[in-house]
Amino acid sequence: MAVLTLGIESSCDETACAVIEDGRVVRASMIASQADFHSQYGGVVPELASRMHVEAIVPCLSETMAQAGCTYDDIDAVCVTKGPGLVGALLVGVSSAKALCEVKGLPLVGVNHMAGHIAANYLSDPAWEPPFLCLVVSGGHSEILHVKDYTDMEYICATRDDAAGEAFDKIARVIGLGYPGGPKLDKASVSGDPNAYSFPTPRISDSLDFSFSGIKTAALNTINQIRQNGGEIDVPDFAASYQDAICSVLIDRLDQAVKMTGMRRICLAGGVSANSCLRRKITELAKKRKCELCVPKMAYCTDNAAMIASAGYYDYMRGVRDGMDMNAYPSLELGV
Ligand SMILES: Nc1ncnc2c1ncn2[C@@H]1O[C@H](COP(=O)(O)OP(=O)(O)OP(=O)(O)O)[C@@H](O)[C@H]1O
Ligand SMILES: [Mg+2]
Repeated sequence: MAVLTLGIESSCDETACAVIEDGRVVRASMIASQADFHSQYGGVVPELASRMHVEAIVPCLSETMAQAGCTYDDIDAVCVTKGPGLVGALLVGVSSAKALCEVKGLPLVGVNHMAGHIAANYLSDPAWEPPFLCLVVSGGHSEILHVKDYTDMEYICATRDDAAGEAFDKIARVIGLGYPGGPKLDKASVSGDPNAYSFPTPRISDSLDFSFSGIKTAALNTINQIRQNGGEIDVPDFAASYQDAICSVLIDRLDQAVKMTGMRRICLAGGVSANSCLRRKITELAKKRKCELCVPKMAYCTDNAAMIASAGYYDYMRGVRDGMDMNAYPSLELGV
């Protein structure tokens, strides 16, 4: 009989619930996004996010169960994001999951949000399985991981400063595209020339780690210089050039990681994996290095609960169970 996991995600500004079959098949997936509400402030306001999660979680759960066509008696485990993320926001999901487990007598599985992003690949390609290298690029994280098994992963390198999503969001705001900037910058870049503006893409010696502060500062300086001289930014050209610079750094490091490890299976994860330039560049890299490739479906790139229910399924099958003393862990790292 199929194993059904219920996923709950509330780490940032999306309240999401999902029911997944055997870690791979999505029975139902609901997302109540607060992005439009937070856009008036130019970013997520943590306290308001927590309050909105409280309002959204019960309707989201009920609707998900109705869509999945099952009752709580059919669920094998409740898998909830326990970190990293905003502590108040995380606590709404964690408390709801604990209450559900206590009342229905179900096992509780706390899931790392980043392991969830990686599991988006399992929902996108039924045959995709470890081992592989994963370029994880999101609003708060940018790293390359060696995923040895479903629950065993090792860091290869990471950003020394901003995450890729942050780097996109900050510059998008400065050029007037608003929040969330990544998707808007991507859209604006479609008609732009990626060679119109140039940005430095420095290497950190003796390490595959990367840094976006130099590119970001160069972008800000270029914008200020043009504006001080009474000129205007060509938004599509700027978006295309900036996006190309960020993605080139990421793909270069992934290429180095492929050479270093000899691993010929690569994939993407996290919100920035929705970026069209990054998806194109990783496809080119896979072709050049003869790597097997998985690119997550657009629906599972940004925060959702299907990916949490999938990652949680593999933890559950390996015997992971959490107690009622489980907390929310804002700075949780993978493998902890
Ligand atoms: N098409 C796109 N191009 C570039 N960036 C994008 C695109 N779509 C989404 N993003 C970026 O992805 C980020 C959101 O991703 P995600 O939801 O995974 O982040 P998060 O959950 O806030 O952070 P984390 O997963 O690190 O905790 C934002 O920074 C957003 O701008
Ligand atoms: Mg995320």
